[in-house]
Amino acid sequence: MSRLGLSHFTGLMADQRKQQHTLVLGGTGKTGRRIVARLRGQGVPVRVGSRSAQRPFDWTDQETWAPILRDVDAVYLSYHPDLAAPGALKTVAAFTDLAVAAGVSRLVLLSGRGEESARSAEEHVQFAGVEWTVLRSSWFNQNFSEDYLLEPVRGGEVVLPVGAVPEPFVDADDLAEVATAALTDDKHAGQLYELTGPGYSPSVRRLLRSPQSRVAPSTSCGFPPRSTRTASPP
Ligand SMILES: NC(=O)c1ccc[n+]([C@@H]2O[C@H](COP(=O)([O-])OP(=O)(O)OC[C@H]3O[C@@H](n4cnc5c(N)ncnc54)[C@H](OP(=O)(O)O)[C@@H]3O)[C@@H](O)[C@H]2O)c1
Repeated sequence: MSRLGLSHFTGLMADQRKQQHTLVLGGTGKTGRRIVARLRGQGVPVRVGSRSAQRPFDWTDQETWAPILRDVDAVYLSYHPDLAAPGALKTVAAFTDLAVAAGVSRLVLLSGRGEESARSAEEHVQFAGVEWTVLRSSWFNQNFSEDYLLEPVRGGEVVLPVGAVPEPFVDADDLAEVATAALTDDKHAGQLYELTGPGYSPSVRRLLRSPQSRVAPSTSCGFPPRSTRTASPP
């Protein structure tokens, strides 16, 4: 190959490398948008995966899957609504297989602590034949401030499906730090991380210790019928 030809060839290779994106599924959600911001801050080309993204992605519409996987080498795999939901395994497995066939070489899966029915989906990713990291996370602090618990907080009563041992919630910013590292640094490949916070935040601790707090069995949240802690904000 002539020198010109070689430099042209290596230039093409460099361009191809540059075009590789990190796909962040749920990239407009609590964890995803924080990961997108961090990756962009590091200059990593990012593609947001969500129904409202420029190139829409919908878990319920397989037609949208292949286009979003073009020129992607790493994926933050956050499934909606929940990895433990009925049908999740089939969908996540099909997406994982398509991603690997499309050339994705690294998968970072968001999973939930204590969700036994999420284990099969975790295993599918672990045995997909590419680098993987599983983030088994406890609840996010941001459920109280950005999601479905915000209205109950404002309304004065929060109902939590908690067990006998309090599980410290994790901050979505901390989870995003870990996910970003796993997406960008080889050393997290093949690791399963259990993520919790260091302890309840002062406001949640106050909430749970408040005199109005009571423990009552409940199945109303769709979670297993363990104890449920109901507390009124102090
Ligand atoms: N909440 C917790 O405490 C907790 C703890 C551990 C693990 N998890 C897991 O975290 C995951 C959720 O992550 P998150 O809390 O960061 O997200 P989130 O805040 O719940 O946001 C949901 C994301 O998914 C997208 N989305 C919704 N429906 C979709 C669909 N049909 N197809 C494609 N995208 C869709 C939304 O964007 P669009 O609306 O634009 O589509 C949004 O980006 C779930 O798998 C959950 O099991 C949650």
